Amino acid sequence: MTSDRRVLGVIGTGAGGVEKLRTGLVEPAIAQGWQVGVTLTPTAATWLDDIGEVALLEKVTGLPVRSAPRLPREQSPHPPPNCYIVAPASANTVAKLALGIADNQALTQVCEAVGTRSLPVVVFPRVNAAHARQPAWEQHLTALREAGVWLVEGPDVWPLYEPREAPPGRELPWAAVLDAAGRAVSASATS
Ligand SMILES: Cc1cc2nc3c(=O)[nH]c(=O)nc-3n(C[C@H](O)[C@H](O)[C@H](O)COP(=O)(O)O)c2cc1C
Repeated sequence: MTSDRRVLGVIGTGAGGVEKLRTGLVEPAIAQGWQVGVTLTPTAATWLDDIGEVALLEKVTGLPVRSAPRLPREQSPHPPPNCYIVAPASANTVAKLALGIADNQALTQVCEAVGTRSLPVVVFPRVNAAHARQPAWEQHLTALREAGVWLVEGPDVWPLYEPREAPPGRELPWAAVLDAAGRAVSASATS
């Protein structure tokens, strides 16, 4: 059976707050009418499996959570997305995405999406002030911006703190991330 729902590819990485991927992003996206397919980096998959969230994500999305590459004879278990969200995006995944390093299933999908250009990609870098002072960081963000990636960042949405100095319990800006996906899809439909 085919569906005419818009499909959101959600990529979770090994960054703080990924444990709330389901309640913060996936369930609100489904409530807005998106069909959601979740892919995790190996680190995120280990973390979420440990707390039972992989099974819950599969239950709410109705699709397998991907983290390992498929076999060449297998079909992708997810429908083709209209948009990707990478949230939370670790500094590691942002750097690799900017450089086109596709050494896991999550990066394989998003690196190709960035190169597709007509397929919007939203990235929320979940970083601290030290990550942002890494010498190549600004170049990575510039490269992604120039490729048309929608970056959710800046002092209004995610003020940067030094490592271990952020206020405890700080929520990720899930609503801003999901809103950016809606705007990105509308913009790509009219361009
Ligand atoms: C408990 C914990 C929390 C972490 N939080 C972050 C984070 O918020 N942002 C970040 O860039 N890296 C964070 N890291 C480091 C990443 O997990 C690490 O760089 C990892 O290699 C990222 O892999 P991935 O990008 O493939 O998911 C954290 C590590 C641990 C153990």
